[in-house]
Amino acid sequence: MERFYCFVAMALLAPQGQTVTPPYKNASLSADKRADDLLGRMTLQEKVAMLAGATWMESAPNERLGIPSLKMADGPVGVRSWAGPSALTNAAGSKMPQIFSTAFPAGVVLGASWDPEIAGRVGQALGAEVRALGRNMLLGPSVNIHRTPWAGRNFETYGEDPYLTSRLAVAYIKGMQSEGVIATVKHFAANSQEFERRTIDEKIGERALHEIYFPAFKAAVQEAGVWSVMSAYNKVNGLWCAENPYLLTDTLKKSWGFQGFVVSDWGGTHSTVDGAVTGLDIEMPGPASVRALLNHEETTRQNFTGGFQAPEKVLPEIESGKIPQAAVDDRVRRMLRAMFSIGIFDRGEEPAGAVDTAAEIAVARTAATEGIVLLKNERGLLPILPGKVRSIAVIGPSAAVARTGGGGSSNVRPKYAVTPLQGISERAGKEKQKQKQFIVEYALGAAMEGEEQDKDSATLLKEAVTIAANSDVAVVFVGNSSKLESESHDRATLGLPAGQAELIQAVAAANPRTVVVLLAGSPVLMDAWVGKVPALLAAWYPGQEGGHAIADILFGDANPSGKLPMTFPKEWKDSPAFGHYPGENGVVDYAEGIYVGYRHFDKHSVEPLFPFGHGLSYTTFAYSDLKVSPHEVSLAVRNTGSREGAEVVQLYIGDSHSSVDRPVKELKGFRRVVLKPGETKTVTFELDKSALSYYSTAKKDWVAEPGTFEVLVGASSRDIRLSGKFELAGE
Ligand code: BGC
Repeated sequence: MERFYCFVAMALLAPQGQTVTPPYKNASLSADKRADDLLGRMTLQEKVAMLAGATWMESAPNERLGIPSLKMADGPVGVRSWAGPSALTNAAGSKMPQIFSTAFPAGVVLGASWDPEIAGRVGQALGAEVRALGRNMLLGPSVNIHRTPWAGRNFETYGEDPYLTSRLAVAYIKGMQSEGVIATVKHFAANSQEFERRTIDEKIGERALHEIYFPAFKAAVQEAGVWSVMSAYNKVNGLWCAENPYLLTDTLKKSWGFQGFVVSDWGGTHSTVDGAVTGLDIEMPGPASVRALLNHEETTRQNFTGGFQAPEKVLPEIESGKIPQAAVDDRVRRMLRAMFSIGIFDRGEEPAGAVDTAAEIAVARTAATEGIVLLKNERGLLPILPGKVRSIAVIGPSAAVARTGGGGSSNVRPKYAVTPLQGISERAGKEKQKQKQFIVEYALGAAMEGEEQDKDSATLLKEAVTIAANSDVAVVFVGNSSKLESESHDRATLGLPAGQAELIQAVAAANPRTVVVLLAGSPVLMDAWVGKVPALLAAWYPGQEGGHAIADILFGDANPSGKLPMTFPKEWKDSPAFGHYPGENGVVDYAEGIYVGYRHFDKHSVEPLFPFGHGLSYTTFAYSDLKVSPHEVSLAVRNTGSREGAEVVQLYIGDSHSSVDRPVKELKGFRRVVLKPGETKTVTFELDKSALSYYSTAKKDWVAEPGTFEVLVGASSRDIRLSGKFELAGE
């Protein structure tokens, strides 16, 4: 209504030559034009007020000119309360304002789905929730690469491969931004460990940056048009990421052409002048929130810093000439451009829509199901067939608890969450009507490390063994908790938490038909028990619909199609970063360079426990008819089994003739293909220069060298079904 009156007034005044609607309020003009016009109307003080947040998660609005504030929220698996840090909003009995939102599956689940389409739907559904909650910017996705299995935040991200990560990130961001919500790709760059994350200096070679740690950010900028990038806490090559001209100015803004704005990670800024001129656009949180937090015991211990872009610090430096006004203009223009582009300026601030709708829940369930990876299935133990199976023992510290996500800022509060035990019991209830009833018995078996139990461990173990021995099938739910696998600290062990390996072995000894379901965000070492169980699933942190998704897979209502987005090593010493993690005296050397993940296992001929890209199905697929050229690869894939299923066809390219050291092969294409029994589909991959190139540090550019390239197509990085070659001609 208000707008209507305003329009009438304008129309009346216009003939007398007065400009009533300033161009920046004209939605038909380009975002750039509007931003320039608005910038021209702002005083220096007004501009400077926008360089640091006003509160914990909001930028400063400007009432005089009608500039709304950026209303942020964490991300990336749901919307978390924006009232404060997760240590406070998520604390048991927290008095801080709470909100409820859908707990979508963790990033690693999207990684394991290898399905950009579902990543896009998650991004969009989450974007809709952001709007429904009255916010306009989400702090996600997290696209840091899994460098080591220790990293506490691996669960938030898409795995070890830059190409897979890029494809998923682009889809997620496009989905989210289509809802009029600013996505924030984080943490730039290389926040690949939590150990000393706020202070560590990471020595990373230029080629590894461009080939491994940058691609997802570059794709987010150039392919998805992401409007915000969050700088990381750590240093890269001696400079803080929030004031690193190589990262923020030269690479992100100049070389990649980023048009949006850089937001600091919370409490990760270090100076006024450098922070103002090297590429950071907005410092978060606001100075008042920083002061409040610095007095908080929990956070001072974590080297929280900030308050450097407060007006009283920035204005004198502008006066002294150390901060050019043009730099201030550029920062403000970037924020305004994003606000105009995404529609924040024009649509008002009212929350729109609902949270936890049926559609959002369905997306969460599909994503969780698609991300489950069947790692092992001897003697066709899975799926469990009601009618044949009369009793199921459900065991373990993650059976009756919904471990929706890992810990830290991504942890959200859903209205409900389905535990695996509930999912299985619900399914049992349904079978009752079909006369295929089975009995479900439950035992904890072992307490989750750090979670208290009344009974002693011997009693718990005995109860589990008893029900396992008396059941047709035993399913053991093991893994980490959001306390053990979390932001702010790396994992304390790569094995399962205390007591869980023993539990698996005791149950498997009592019942040879034992299935293990792993709920964790990273590989766990399992040498001691993996040979003793016939079936193993990785369900990661599957969000609030996890229990349903797990039951869907266990009972064959859904056919597993997930593939590992990272390599599972047999031992830590087999991992690429072994010997170069977590660093010493504040410095960590990424000495393995580009040999991260399967690139390392291939180069050094190390046998993984489960290779990158591995994942079984309840059906089988045959590959044939490979055709290759420098521009295109095509093949046929056929479902040779008796169930409908999806196969993720993977394309790897090798360049053994290269004049520089290059990986044996690199993922350059993948496609999730759904096939009915007996059905065949042709899969075609287009190849462009990026599929053939390495980053030349001499040329500062990507180079594809003429010669013979190997084409490897398969069901995993170690299950290559077809191979061919083509010649790339010289220019
Ligand atoms: C995390 C970010 C998060 C921010 C705000 C930081 O500690 O690293 O990922 O978005 O807090 O909660």
